[in-house]
Amino acid sequence: MDGPLGLRKVGSYASVADAGDELDLSRLLEKPPPKLSIERQRSFEERSLSELSISVRALDAAAYDHGMFSPGMRSSGFDTPASSARNSFEPHPMVAEAWEALRRSLVYLRGQPVGTIAAYDHASEEILNYDQVFVRDFVPSALAFLMNGEPEIVKNFLLKTLHLQGWEKKVDRFKLGEGVMPASFKVLHDPIRKTDTLIADFGASAIGRVAPVDSGFWWIILLRAYTKSTGDLSLAETPECQKGMRLILALCLSEGFDTFPTLLCADGCSMIDRRMGIYGYPIEIQALFFMALRCALSMLKHDAEGKEFVERIVKRLHALSYHMRSYFWLDFQQLNDIYRWKTEEYSHTAVNKFNVIPDSIPDWVFDFMPTRGGYFIGNVSPARMDFRWFCLGNCVAILSSLATPEQAMAIMDLIEARWEEIVGEMPLKVAYPAIESHEWRIVTGCDPKNTRWSYHNGGSWPVLLWLLTAACIKTGRPQIARRAIELAESRLLKDGWPEYYDGKLGRYIGKQARKFQTWSIAGYLVAKMMLEDPSHLGMISLEEDKAMKPLIKRSTSWTC
Ligand code: GLC
Repeated sequence: MDGPLGLRKVGSYASVADAGDELDLSRLLEKPPPKLSIERQRSFEERSLSELSISVRALDAAAYDHGMFSPGMRSSGFDTPASSARNSFEPHPMVAEAWEALRRSLVYLRGQPVGTIAAYDHASEEILNYDQVFVRDFVPSALAFLMNGEPEIVKNFLLKTLHLQGWEKKVDRFKLGEGVMPASFKVLHDPIRKTDTLIADFGASAIGRVAPVDSGFWWIILLRAYTKSTGDLSLAETPECQKGMRLILALCLSEGFDTFPTLLCADGCSMIDRRMGIYGYPIEIQALFFMALRCALSMLKHDAEGKEFVERIVKRLHALSYHMRSYFWLDFQQLNDIYRWKTEEYSHTAVNKFNVIPDSIPDWVFDFMPTRGGYFIGNVSPARMDFRWFCLGNCVAILSSLATPEQAMAIMDLIEARWEEIVGEMPLKVAYPAIESHEWRIVTGCDPKNTRWSYHNGGSWPVLLWLLTAACIKTGRPQIARRAIELAESRLLKDGWPEYYDGKLGRYIGKQARKFQTWSIAGYLVAKMMLEDPSHLGMISLEEDKAMKPLIKRSTSWTC
């Protein structure tokens, strides 16, 4: 399909339930960022983004009306005067290379593109499952195609994975929940019989038999991105998609023994799909859970079957945002409070509700915490706070508005203040800091792939660039994204689009990193396209839900 669909339709889609909930693009672009309690100097660059956006939108629209656009040829040139003139009118040479590499990774089923393989790395001896279409890996590819006005592949992917959800899923003799979405799938071509067959992995083949808890959430988030970008409500409204959503929701909204509204998970349940001490209530899953609930809320029909889910979602969102904003949030003040906490408090008057022993606070966090800034910590459960910084969870918290505007600003402040630790020479650390020595032995089970500052254990993943960029645009701080993108541009193509980098500064190509890793390629493209046209943000961002505000106010006065 020709033309900048994303640009023109983003603002036009309004579903049954999204009034007031969704990002009002015109407001984002035309209003200066909200005034926040945290004092911050707005640079010329930041101001110019929101101001220039209006004229760029007008220009884009005019160009579209005059038939000047074709796929892959979006207005490449939106940048501030401070940046080079080249950036203003010509795409970076890496962009064309990236598109070519992304198209090479396409996977076809009976002639139709249905996804992109994880890595197109012929030099690698071990293919493992990198020749599969991973649900989480496809997200940046999908966004790139949507932003480029090519929604068909995304639709095909959503329908194929929905079809896979309907399969009976078993690990040995154990039947998995009906709503489980696959971690990945593959198309087997039989050249003799001329047939294509799908195979899928729901965890039964995955190393460690890990459960892909994030897949279902990404699926819902992607369905909304597709709907928002194309303005095509008909897909989300089909009985099949409505049922698919309900099945995913049934898995995570079921009643049980829980005392918290967060979602209890086993280790390796998300992007970090190996044992890394993220079992319990990992921030990545909680943020994706929150975002998926909000996306589902905007797409679910209020019919006989949908209504009950809508009610359950609303209740859960209130409890979840309260819990996360109160107990996962850490800034200088909170850290100081925890440091002085008493333990062994009984009854509802307890301040230290989870009985965290202050001695368990790791030394590094006292140095890491800037005076201004904060973040959602990795995990909270009885007597346990995992203070590690996780990039994906914090970015998704900003995009979903799980973070209040003040918290979102504070996360960006922290990224700026701890640039060397979080970005270093290659964006972006998946987690900080690395686990070493005895702790590494205990926590990872002596995992040789996750040695300190490598892979999931403090490695740097270029794919995270798109999430950082989206968070930067949402918080009105695009200059941070520009800095990160420039770093990536100095190496990514030359290094062959590695999956991850190693080292404290992310200076070395990862020990076992695949080359031509598709989400490294797509992540770069999405970051570039969003910076050029910030209106794309709408497909992957949700504005703050005003209904949750009073609750938070109460919580703040109560906890302080
Ligand atoms: C690795 C990553 C996982 C990714 C997969 C395919 O297993 O840990 O997050 O989805 O590779 O790229």
